[in-house]
Amino acid sequence: MAQQVRGVVAPGKGQPVRIETITVPDPGPGEAVVRIQACGVCHTDLHYREGGINDEFPFLLGHEAAGVVETVGDGVTEVAPGDFVVLNWRAVCGQCRACLRGRPWYCFDTHNAAQKMTLEDGTELSPALGIGAFADKTLVAAGQCTKVDAAAPPEVAGLLGCGVMAGIGAAINTGGVGRGDSVAVIGCGGGGAASVLGARLAGAAEIIAIDLDERKLATAASLGATHVVDARERDVVETVREMTGGFGADVVIEAVGRPETYEQAFYARDLAGTVVLVGVPTPEMRLELPLLDVFGRGGSLKSSWYGDCLPSRDFPMLIDLYLQGRLDLDAFVSETIALDGVEGAFEKMHHGDVLRSVVML
Ligand SMILES: NC(=O)c1ccc[n+]([C@@H]2O[C@H](COP(=O)([O-])OP(=O)(O)OC[C@H]3O[C@@H](n4cnc5c(N)ncnc54)[C@H](O)[C@@H]3O)[C@@H](O)[C@H]2O)c1
Ligand SMILES: [Zn+2]
Ligand SMILES: [Zn+2]
Repeated sequence: MAQQVRGVVAPGKGQPVRIETITVPDPGPGEAVVRIQACGVCHTDLHYREGGINDEFPFLLGHEAAGVVETVGDGVTEVAPGDFVVLNWRAVCGQCRACLRGRPWYCFDTHNAAQKMTLEDGTELSPALGIGAFADKTLVAAGQCTKVDAAAPPEVAGLLGCGVMAGIGAAINTGGVGRGDSVAVIGCGGGGAASVLGARLAGAAEIIAIDLDERKLATAASLGATHVVDARERDVVETVREMTGGFGADVVIEAVGRPETYEQAFYARDLAGTVVLVGVPTPEMRLELPLLDVFGRGGSLKSSWYGDCLPSRDFPMLIDLYLQGRLDLDAFVSETIALDGVEGAFEKMHHGDVLRSVVML
């Protein structure tokens, strides 16, 4: 039987979110209904509310979540009722050209639930990133559920569902940071701070954290940054070069999403080094670089989608490292809030007051 639960809905462009009663259908073939325990507030939720992603209002927000599988539809074998899972937005298809070439972390045709959740009047909801987890329960494709060790608290586990995975993965997957590398991270919000953690995990010798906000720099230092740079006071490129023997860092991760910080990343990198773009720019932004420098400086310029993660490989591994005390994910939970606190959390995010506000259900 379809169920009625509470959900946080963005009704229209720029309008405040509201708690609505939503209808969650029983899972069909290949689907699962998950009882949500925790869901982090990500910048992308705010982008949806602002109409910055698309116009398919109303949106059911929330996509960085952990919970327990309640029921599964026909043919579901990968998860079962009672499993503790982190939700992902990369349920790989196994059929597209990326999957067939053995690169499922790029999957170009990821799965979401086929059925729609609705408002009480029958209006279909668009779940954020195919998840919609600011809700007591949500309907997803079973492949969007990744089982992890239930010893991890849900408010921590859920973080891997988006921003923290994107940041860690930018370092360990996309950037390929290795032992002894020098790494610079420009922008140390939730994403960049996670890149600091990823760089440390990968054995980087130097980790230079750069931000405009001293609170973010203090957090980055506590997570393992060996140097911090306040970009309001110092020239980023010169300072990174000074800190790396005059050469620049092997890997520079841009976690802001602006042309000027991308340009800094480009020049703060050693010859043959790697730039990883994590920040998401807006459509009007343009980048201008001398093509000769693109050639002459060599190396690679990469973008990181969701940290090039493979949820089935990366989520359980990172949760295990967390449980062993080797990955400080607790630092990312700035506050826990109730379902009616999402609008307030957007405000705090805007002022840089939090790494993550996490809704508890
Ligand atoms: N690639 C992905 O798959 C993916 C996933 C999630 C989020 N993102 C994107 O990553 C970016 C960062 O997300 P977040 O959650 O960390 O956001 P955030 O707002 O928490 O962090 C951004 C940080 O950048 C700092 N900053 C701003 N301008 C700066 C400048 N000129 N120099 C140095 N630092 C500066 C801010 O002080 C802040 O600490 C966003 O664009 C977000 O949309 C990408
Ligand atoms: Zn695929
Ligand atoms: Zn997100």
